[in-house]
Amino acid sequence: MKKRYLAPFVLSALFFAACGGGSNSGEQQASTSETEHAADNSMVSPNADKPMTKGQELMAQQDCKTCHKEEMKLVGPSFKDIAGKYPNNEENVDKLADKIIKGGSGNWGEVAMLPHSNISKDDAKEMVKYILSLSSAN
Ligand code: HEC
Repeated sequence: MKKRYLAPFVLSALFFAACGGGSNSGEQQASTSETEHAADNSMVSPNADKPMTKGQELMAQQDCKTCHKEEMKLVGPSFKDIAGKYPNNEENVDKLADKIIKGGSGNWGEVAMLPHSNISKDDAKEMVKYILSLSSAN
């Protein structure tokens, strides 16, 4: 009786070892954590049903959400407030993209935004375009 159960077990153990099961399971782990990431984002985003814009996706990869929410002031102003303050034009997109990269304070209060020197100007512009598109006037 016992041997009958043992045989398939031993065989499959051999099978996995022979196929380099170690590296296989490593790959599987990597792809699993990617899926978890995607699932996480959709859970947190209030617009999970809408496709993300490029700027929104870029911001999801950054630390913006630790200080900004769409509707509510946190450490920094809400994105809706920012959209209400600046009309969505080329000049403001350019200016605010620079501000994201360099950081700074003064426009909303004494608290400063951290610089994001790792973000390219083009990416920062995409983020600003998304933020300014949130204006309640739209
Ligand atoms: C450490 C907290 C913090 C983080 C992280 C942060 N911000 Fe800010 N952000 C602020 C604060 C504080 C202000 C207000 C600055 C001021 O008064 O001029 C601000 C202002 C802004 C403004 C308006 C700037 C202006 O001059 O009116 C934009 C746009 C902005 N943030 C976008 C972003 C984006 C995009 C990210 C992610 C890449 C980000 N922030 C990450 C704290 C933060």
